[in-house]
Amino acid sequence: MKVVRSVAGMTRQALVWRRAGATVALVPTMGALHPGHISLVSQARRLAGPDGAVVLSIYVNPTQFGENEDFAAYPRDLKADRGLCRLAGVDLLFAPSDRDMYPRSNEIPYSSFVAEENLSQLMEGASRPTHFRGVTTVVAKLFNLTLPDFAILGAKDFQQAAIIRKMARDLNFPVKIVVADTFREPDGLAMSSRNRYLTPEQRTQATVLHRSILLARSQARSNPLPAADLKARIADLVAAEPLARLDYAEIFDPHTLRPVPMAKRGSRLALAVFFGKTRLIDNGVL
Ligand code: PAJ
Repeated sequence: MKVVRSVAGMTRQALVWRRAGATVALVPTMGALHPGHISLVSQARRLAGPDGAVVLSIYVNPTQFGENEDFAAYPRDLKADRGLCRLAGVDLLFAPSDRDMYPRSNEIPYSSFVAEENLSQLMEGASRPTHFRGVTTVVAKLFNLTLPDFAILGAKDFQQAAIIRKMARDLNFPVKIVVADTFREPDGLAMSSRNRYLTPEQRTQATVLHRSILLARSQARSNPLPAADLKARIADLVAAEPLARLDYAEIFDPHTLRPVPMAKRGSRLALAVFFGKTRLIDNGVL
């Protein structure tokens, strides 16, 4: 496995692959890798084929964190991540520095951003107003640096995947966005790098996100109901966990990401719940 730490080195390698006609599959991450990330690598290998290149990027992207968010505390363990990547069969691990990703030039700070301006306002975007601008900026940069044929994203961040797909379409990036299923712990909690912040009591109560999805699915399938009623039931379920605080729950159309009036089969539920300062998200189809 190659490890590339510089932007110039990544560009050089991507051009070599491009000239050789190799298929490149990119898995962008912020590290603190867990089996959910590794499941994306397996998908990347299937898409790239045995002769293609699987690139996993690790970069804790400062521009997607809000001022009072966990950028400084975000778990960083390149050594452990490197071992996991090697085991998973990653061909190239790209782990650039902040100075290389967001350089100053002639004393002028980094100043170019990519913003998707429709889907980015909803749900996560309403709670975290600058988040998706940071995500689309860094992902556009990663696309330019790695020149991927495929980018594999997790359904765990359903809105993020939809926004990246829209950005790629709008800006003509020749990349196919592939969305992989959410990988869960045996008790249903979606795997996340942020789960390691949870105390044992919070961890137990954190299954309420998945339980909300299951409740919503069985309700919507047995008897479609007004989204407002279902959201109220979810709010009650979350309120029953003393350490949980609901940020939002939304029932939406999976194509437009717009709220729907009725919760029925095929709509989607997304929710965000705080446990102390730790904010967890999950979503699922109804
Ligand atoms: P990160 O949270 O590290 O997630 C990297 C990728 O792994 C994302 O596509 C995410 O949806 C996926 N993922 C996370 N947990 C998963 C799970 N339990 N099952 C399946 N996939 C899962 O998302 C980001 O990083 C960043 O915003 C990034 C896209 C890298 C831009 O900085």
